[in-house]
Amino acid sequence: MQIKRVNEGVGIVMKFLVLHGPNLNLLGNREPEVYGTRTLDDINNFLEKLALELGCSLLFFQSNSEGELINAIQGAADGCDGILINPAAYTHTSIAIRDALSSVGIPCVEVHLSNIHGRESFRRKSLTAPVAVGQICGFGIDSYLLGLRALFSHVKT
Ligand code: DQA
Repeated sequence: MQIKRVNEGVGIVMKFLVLHGPNLNLLGNREPEVYGTRTLDDINNFLEKLALELGCSLLFFQSNSEGELINAIQGAADGCDGILINPAAYTHTSIAIRDALSSVGIPCVEVHLSNIHGRESFRRKSLTAPVAVGQICGFGIDSYLLGLRALFSHVKT
């Protein structure tokens, strides 16, 4: 997915990168009993509306590739105030994404649609959560909206 920018304009001071990891491009069709029927575009549209309400701008990026996600995290150091990330399956495997998040020196909030702590044992461990400000999971789309609110107030205060 190309980086999409929303709400960039006069008066908006804070900018956040919203990163979606592998297979989240399939939302809507992918295991709807676990992840719901909303698409990734739906999630981004809800976030865009909330960002308008809060008064911040967002950059959206989805990739199925670990290296592209790392490049996007490194790029966020140049001008972004924080990162809202659903690392998807890389949550449980990627030391490289964790290192990227801890290297850039900007706050990050980790979100998941499903409650990863109530699922298979391999999903219960997050390599990335320890370097995030916090983790929100299990609330479907609301995990993202709560995550953006949490990131916004963390950066603002
Ligand atoms: C997920 C949970 C992960 O375990 C899984 O690999 C995903 C989605 C979630 O949002 O619930 O792809 O991050």
